[in-house]
Amino acid sequence: MIDPVGVEKNQVENLQSSVLSILVLHGPNLNLLGQREPGIYGSLTLEAINDLLAATAKNLGVEVVTLQSNHEGVLVDAIHGAVGKHQGVLINAGAYTHTSVALRDAIAAVSLPAVEVHLSNIYRREEFRHHSYLAAVVVGQISGFGARSYLLGLQALVHHLQAASSPELK
Ligand code: DQA
Repeated sequence: MIDPVGVEKNQVENLQSSVLSILVLHGPNLNLLGQREPGIYGSLTLEAINDLLAATAKNLGVEVVTLQSNHEGVLVDAIHGAVGKHQGVLINAGAYTHTSVALRDAIAAVSLPAVEVHLSNIYRREEFRHHSYLAAVVVGQISGFGARSYLLGLQALVHHLQAASSPELK
């Protein structure tokens, strides 16, 4: 059982004048979470992870909008579409992490702060998973904490956004 992350709720709420919105992107095969290699990715479904993200977002005083796609172009379009609607992007690009220059370029192009997350520790796995095309264009990466990687990533992204608007929190 994972509790939503809920630290400093009031602090975050007090510091923002309008509610921050975070776009959460889940890449290919993550729709199969719960049944897909549970020894590696855990037993929670994507829906359960999205519920935890929503609860964590509530505690942090922000909103999340989630999207899963198995198609690279849909994810690229979603990143483009985030401009003006969302203030940050939380992304588990799945296998596209290791292959997609297009996703990397999309994140760089929109210059919205992004945080990369992975359920598994990609550096303890096959060598082809050790390289992330996204790593160089995101604020940071959280890898290896199961579903909690998403919650920690959301918290880190919100804190990053808060620090940007309130330098005393840096
Ligand atoms: C993953 C790791 C990737 O290597 C893999 O292709 C995935 C999931 C993770 O969350 O651990 O689909 O991003």
